[in-house]
Amino acid sequence: MDIEKLLGELTISEKCALLVGADAWHTIAIPRLGIPSIMMADGPHGLRKQLESGNSIEIQESYQAVCFPAEVTVASSFDPELAFQMGEGIAKECLNKDVQVLLGPGMNIKRSPLCGRNFEYYSEDPVVSGEMGAAFVRGLQSKNVGACLKHFALNSQESYRMISDSVADERAFLEIYTQAFRRALQENPAMVMCSYNKVNGVYASENPVLLDDVLRKKFGYQGVVVSDWTAVNRRPKALKATLDLEMPGYVYSVHQLEKAVRHGIVSVEEIDASVRRILALVESKSANRIEDFDLADNHALARRIAEGSIVLLKNDEQILPLAPTDKVALIGRLARETRYQGGGSSHINPFQVDSLLDRMPPEADCQYAEGYTLQGDGWDEKLLAEAQALATGADKVIVVVGLTDEYESEGYDRRHLNLPRGHQALVEAACAVNANVIVVLQIGSPVLMPWKDDVKAIVNAYLLGEAGAGALADVLYGKVNPSGRLAETFPAHLEEAPWWGHYALGNGEVHYQESVYVGYRYYSSAKIPTLFPFGYGLSYTRFEYSDLTLDRDILRVPGAVSVSVRVRNTGDRFGKEVVQLYIENNQDRQFKPAIELKQFKKIALAPGEETIVRFQLTEADFQYFEPAIKMFVSDSGDYTVQIRKDAETLLLSAPLRLENPGQKDYAMNFMKAESYRICG
Ligand code: BGC
Repeated sequence: MDIEKLLGELTISEKCALLVGADAWHTIAIPRLGIPSIMMADGPHGLRKQLESGNSIEIQESYQAVCFPAEVTVASSFDPELAFQMGEGIAKECLNKDVQVLLGPGMNIKRSPLCGRNFEYYSEDPVVSGEMGAAFVRGLQSKNVGACLKHFALNSQESYRMISDSVADERAFLEIYTQAFRRALQENPAMVMCSYNKVNGVYASENPVLLDDVLRKKFGYQGVVVSDWTAVNRRPKALKATLDLEMPGYVYSVHQLEKAVRHGIVSVEEIDASVRRILALVESKSANRIEDFDLADNHALARRIAEGSIVLLKNDEQILPLAPTDKVALIGRLARETRYQGGGSSHINPFQVDSLLDRMPPEADCQYAEGYTLQGDGWDEKLLAEAQALATGADKVIVVVGLTDEYESEGYDRRHLNLPRGHQALVEAACAVNANVIVVLQIGSPVLMPWKDDVKAIVNAYLLGEAGAGALADVLYGKVNPSGRLAETFPAHLEEAPWWGHYALGNGEVHYQESVYVGYRYYSSAKIPTLFPFGYGLSYTRFEYSDLTLDRDILRVPGAVSVSVRVRNTGDRFGKEVVQLYIENNQDRQFKPAIELKQFKKIALAPGEETIVRFQLTEADFQYFEPAIKMFVSDSGDYTVQIRKDAETLLLSAPLRLENPGQKDYAMNFMKAESYRICG
C-alpha cells in the first residue's frame, strides 16, 4: 500500500468515512482503491466475536472461544511469561476467526475495589499492570494481531462512566493512572482506546491534553486512537484531539467531519494525519491469513495459566493440601457452576467450562451439597441446612463461595465488599459444625471475610477462566503448589480506604483526592493494617531470603546499582516464589508513598535449591513527577532498598544514597506552580 499516493487519490468524503467505523466492529473498505476493512473484537481474556447476525453494539451471542482467566487472576501470577502466552493463545483464535485487533488489555488502575469492572484490569500498582499488560501485548502482537490498550484514562468506576469527570492532580495522573499504559506503549500496541469519562473537565475522546500532549507527544505513541464504543461526543473536536477512529460507525459523524472540513474547522492535514495512521494499521494487519486452530489447545493453556495464578491466603496447621483419603464435604453451588468470568463486553461464549465438582480427583472421598442458590443474595434455608448437615460428618469441608454477576460486572459498581448473604451464611454454618473449614473464593475483586479467623484455609481462585477448576483441584490436592500473590490490597474495613467518600458518588466531578496514595501506597504510608496486603500469598513450601547485596552504596546519576538477593527453598516441595523489590522513599523535598514496588521476578526452586535473584536500579526507579517544573525528577538523598514478602512484611533492607548532580532547583519556582489541574 502506497499510503501517500492513496492520500492523493482519496476524496474528502472517503477520508472522513475511514475515520468512522463501517459498522459495530469494522473499519470501512474502499474497494475502488483496494483498501480492505479490518475487524476489531472484544477481549481481553478471550475472543468475543459476535455472530455475523449480531452486528450490533448490544452484547449478543458470540462464537465459541476459550475463556482464559480474567486479568485480575493472571496479574496474581506475577508472571509476565504467562501473560505473554495468553496473548499468543488468544491471537491464534483471532487469526482463526479473521479478527485483526483484539480490544484488550484493560490497563486501568484499580482505584477502589468497589469498581464493578476490576476483574478486567490487572492491579492497583502501575508496575505490575504495566509489565503484565506489556507482556500480553507482546504475545498477541507476536502473531501480528493488534492489541488495544483500554481505557485511556482515569476510568476507575462504572457508575456514570459516560458522564462522570475524573479530576486528578498531575502526580496521580502521571505516576499512577497513565504509568502502566506508558510501559505497555513500549510494545507498540496497534490501538489505544479512550475512555468514556471526562478527564479534568474534558471528555477523554476530545481531550487534546490527554490524547495529543500526553499520549502522543509525551509518551510518543504513533498508532491509532479509537474511541470506546459510543464515547465520541463531538466528532470534529475528537479529531482535533487526534482521536483517529470513532466506533461504532455513524453516517452522521462522517457528515459532521465533512462539514467541519468545509467550514475550515478541521484542516485536511488533520484529516490526513488520522487517515495515515488508520491506513498503516489496515496495511499491517490485512495480510493476516485465516489459520486452523483447535480450541482444546487453548483450554489446556488456560488451565496452565490458572495454575500459576491461584492465591493461597491462609493455611493453618497445613490443612492443605488434602489427602485423597480425607472425607470431604464440598459445599456451595459455585463448586458445580463455576463463576469463571465477569459480566459485560468481555463475556466469552466458552468452549468447555470445568467445575470443581467434576474435577475433584476420581479417588477423592467427596460428597456435595448446594448450600445456596445463584439468584439474588443466594439465601435458601433448606439448602443451607442440608449443606450444614453434610459438613457435620466430614473430615474437612471445602466451602466454595463468591460473587455472582449480580454483584459485580461492567456497567455498575459494588456498594459494599460483602459476600452475598447466602454465601456468607454457608461459611458460618460450616464453621459452626466443623473445625476444618477451607474456603474457596470465586471473586473478581476483594471481599470482606468476617469469618477469617474461624476457618483453617482460604484459597482465592479469583475468576479462573473456563479451565481453572482443574487447576484449583490440583492446588487443593497438592499436585500444584500455589504461587499467586495478590496484585491488590484486600482492605480490612471499607471506611479506611483512601477514596472513601470520594468514589462513584454522582454524575459530576469525582475527585481523586488521595492523589498518588492508591492501594498499598496509602495503607503502607498511613500504617493501616489490611485484611491481606498487596503482594501477599502463601506456598506449600518455604523460602528463605539472605544476602541482600548492593554493588555500591551510592547511586550516582546517571548510573546503575546492581542488587542481588539469595533465595532458598527450605521446604520439601517444588515451589515458585515472587521476589519483590521495593524502595522506601526519601521524602526530604516532596511527599511520596512510604514504599513502592519497583521490580519483581518469579522464580522456581526445587526443595533445597537456591538461586541468586538480580535486579538493576537506575534513576528511573527513584523518579516522581514534580508539578512545579513539570518534569519527572529524582531527589538526591537517602533511600532504602527493600526485599519484601508483601507490602506489609519486610524481609531484608539495605541503605542506598542517590546523588543526582543534575538535580533541578525548583524550590524557587514553587510559588509559581500552575493550578493542579492538567487541563480544563
Ligand atoms: C467497553 C469496551 C469494549 C466496547 C466494545 C464498551 O462498552 O467499555 O471495553 O471494548 O464496549 O464492546
